[in-house]
Amino acid sequence: MSPAKKSLTPTNSLQDISTGRFRRALAALRRIGFGGVVNLIRQHGLRGSLEFVIRNIRHILADQIARRWDKKYGVDTAGTVPLGSLSIVGPNKEYGNECLCTSPKTFDFMMRSLPEDLRGYTFIDIGSGKSRTLLLASRYDFSRIIGVEFAKELVACSKQNIASFKSEWQKCRNIEVVEADATQFVFPTTPLVVFFYNPFSSEIFKEVLNNIEVSLSQNERDCFIMYGSSSHNAIDWAKPTILSGGMFEEMPSSKAPFFLDAVRTVRFAIFKAS
Ligand SMILES: C[S@@+](CC[C@H](N)C(=O)[O-])C[C@H]1O[C@@H](n2cnc3c(N)ncnc32)[C@H](O)[C@@H]1O
Repeated sequence: MSPAKKSLTPTNSLQDISTGRFRRALAALRRIGFGGVVNLIRQHGLRGSLEFVIRNIRHILADQIARRWDKKYGVDTAGTVPLGSLSIVGPNKEYGNECLCTSPKTFDFMMRSLPEDLRGYTFIDIGSGKSRTLLLASRYDFSRIIGVEFAKELVACSKQNIASFKSEWQKCRNIEVVEADATQFVFPTTPLVVFFYNPFSSEIFKEVLNNIEVSLSQNERDCFIMYGSSSHNAIDWAKPTILSGGMFEEMPSSKAPFFLDAVRTVRFAIFKAS
């Protein structure tokens, strides 16, 4: 591994709602007092309350691990950035999900379902956020890596990250970020690995999937879709949507374990164009 570097100063214009979570929780506890806590437990039940506490402890720990990862590689990929105040390209802001990056352990676990030899493949992250997955993918032997992101501030942050990231494990340095709405992205005619971490709602997903299918029928080639979601159970609608066109089949994969570096456990599936 490369020696520890100073992390990038988090981009000022990016509001990060993960920071201060612990402080906010303590302040809330002080505000409501012991009686308030008892009332909340009565309202949500012991199990519900415990799950809430565990969820929040996990979030705080995962966030700390992500910040350490950033520091190690000299980048700024941690945190949760809501889309509200960002400058968005195109008309689909209301369908987009906030920027929260995939954890390194989850990403590597998902990658185990792909073939080992990825030379010749282009890895594309649709809704690439701060570029964490692009950096993680660069440790595999993809020929090219592309992020597609519609928030200008996140694209700027990604460009800085890509320039600063140096790891002795990096195999692919052909990395770029395209500032565009996902529905407008034209897929390259190489073999593809297309990654989605629940970037938007099903309306937009269907459009992007249709673009992939049209591109594959115009230029027949290998294509894998990796779809992960950790909230809204998006995998439950994404999976039947991907299979409904008849072009993709699901590949065998194992359930992701409880990784401590992940804010939430990701449910995912991998599909191969057949
Ligand atoms: C949950 S984050 C995923 C970040 C990254 N893919 C990862 O796994 O680390 C979703 C990202 O999708 C982006 N996004 C949402 N809708 C989009 C659209 N229509 N076109 C391009 N990007 C979009 C958001 O700005 C956000 O950065």
